Amino acid sequence: MSKVRAVVHGLLTVLFVAGLVVFLLLSTNHEWPWKGSLPKDPLKAAQKILEASPVIDGHIDLPELVRMVYANNVSAVDLEHEMPGHVDIPRLRKGRVGGFFWSVYTACPEHAGYDAGEDFLNATWRVRDTLEQIDVAKLLIDKYPNTFQLARSSQDIKDAITEGKIASLLGVEGAHQLGNSIAVLRQYHELGVRYVTLTHMCHNAFADSCGFLEAPEPLHGGLSEIGVALIAEMNRIGVLVDLSHTADATAKQALKLTKAPVIWSHSSSRAIWNVSRNVPDDVLELVGSGENKTDGVVMVNFAPYFVGAEGNATIASVADHVEHIAKIAGKKHVGLGSDYDGIEDVPSGLEDVSKYPQLFAELYKRGWSRYDLAGLSGGNLLRVFEGAEAVARKLQQEGTQPAYDIYKKRTDIGKKREL
Ligand SMILES: *[C@@H]1O[C@H](CO)[C@@H](O)[C@H](O)[C@H]1NC(C)=O
Ligand SMILES: *[C@@H]1O[C@H](CO)[C@@H](O)[C@H](O)[C@H]1NC(C)=O
Ligand SMILES: *[C@@H]1O[C@H](CO)[C@@H](O)[C@H](O)[C@H]1NC(C)=O
Ligand SMILES: *[C@@H]1O[C@H](CO)[C@@H](O)[C@H](O)[C@H]1NC(C)=O
Ligand SMILES: *[C@@H]1O[C@H](CO)[C@@H](O)[C@H](O)[C@H]1NC(C)=O
Ligand SMILES: [Zn+2]
Repeated sequence: MSKVRAVVHGLLTVLFVAGLVVFLLLSTNHEWPWKGSLPKDPLKAAQKILEASPVIDGHIDLPELVRMVYANNVSAVDLEHEMPGHVDIPRLRKGRVGGFFWSVYTACPEHAGYDAGEDFLNATWRVRDTLEQIDVAKLLIDKYPNTFQLARSSQDIKDAITEGKIASLLGVEGAHQLGNSIAVLRQYHELGVRYVTLTHMCHNAFADSCGFLEAPEPLHGGLSEIGVALIAEMNRIGVLVDLSHTADATAKQALKLTKAPVIWSHSSSRAIWNVSRNVPDDVLELVGSGENKTDGVVMVNFAPYFVGAEGNATIASVADHVEHIAKIAGKKHVGLGSDYDGIEDVPSGLEDVSKYPQLFAELYKRGWSRYDLAGLSGGNLLRVFEGAEAVARKLQQEGTQPAYDIYKKRTDIGKKREL
């Protein structure tokens, strides 16, 4: 009897040591190694995973809510207590959030009551309003220095998380916010903007949009001439190309052109729910780690419209989108971009930013490992961001010139002044 026990014990010891070696080997390849077994309860396991590897959400519309509800009066905003909408500090903490992109969104001209004209040349205040949204985001970040930290780089994200802060990044949601000008892109970058979505729900001078639920008639057939130049400049200065909201043709052309990894800051899967706003499989197949694929991360949107039939959006259906994107593009290419504060309705079980651990618990139950979940929560976005930074450094070292392209419909620039 004792002999059997000794053999079993010996075997277990060998297995344990082998396991430990494997774990240490694996953990050196990961940002945040962590030890020990996970709790049996899926929610507790999810919370433990997220403690080491918190959520970095690709798209949160808190600045837009502050514009609408508080006219950007930061004094009137109290993020330490329950806010209208889906986001405040206690709920961010409960949801194990380590960072998010603050969307500095302003609506398409036609949704804001302007007629930009068919060539987008009428003044529409989109640049002014974007500057106001950058301003309000920064003022809010500054108002809570123990919670938020402005992040301009992947290193800034890691530093913020290490210090227990919430890394706060800025994203512009649509090239209609650029006033048709690549110079404006460069200045947004100076202000800290680290992604620009190529379109919102409208076509613009740079690219075609996918509309809302159904794709509108194309205008350029994807990217325009200045849209091609825009991508080159985004690559050169290290602004992530965001393909959420874009027409399929725009996304496919952008994936061919970009030298840097890309993101979808808040988009789900069209194979799971067939609306134009979701990413189709033939685009997902172009994303990944293999030959002829572009590195990228598709950050799943929680908006019930895009998740499933009315009344059918749940934690499980959001998890279905995550799993489908992972199946086609790979688990290293999926993330989360909730769209909180930008959506009226929410999936049941994912009511606000406190609920991310519930989604991780669902995926843990479905067999996702701690490493896969750490990628989903933020690791994949970090890899993509680092990749884009490396491309920008390389292009600049090679002496790539800034894009001086001017939107060709403009007639106000490059003309000899009458003397
Ligand atoms: C901003 O909000 C604060 C607090 O509610 C209020 O006292 C102040 O008058 C507001 N300022 C403006 C300019 O509306
Ligand atoms: C915008 O431009 C179009 C021509 O493209 C013009 O017909 C329209 O009146 C303009 N609207 C405004 C508000 O300026
Ligand atoms: C998805 O919707 C589009 C447009 O509404 C339609 O043309 C297409 O056939 C649908 N695809 C599937 C697989 O149902
Ligand atoms: C990648 O593209 C090249 C050129 O089009 C093609 O020859 C090759 O077979 C492709 N590789 C894969 C794995 O699809
Ligand atoms: C809602 O979800 C249930 C369960 O997944 C499914 O059986 C049903 O067909 C869905 N309803 C619609 C309208 O898609
Ligand atoms: Zn959006």
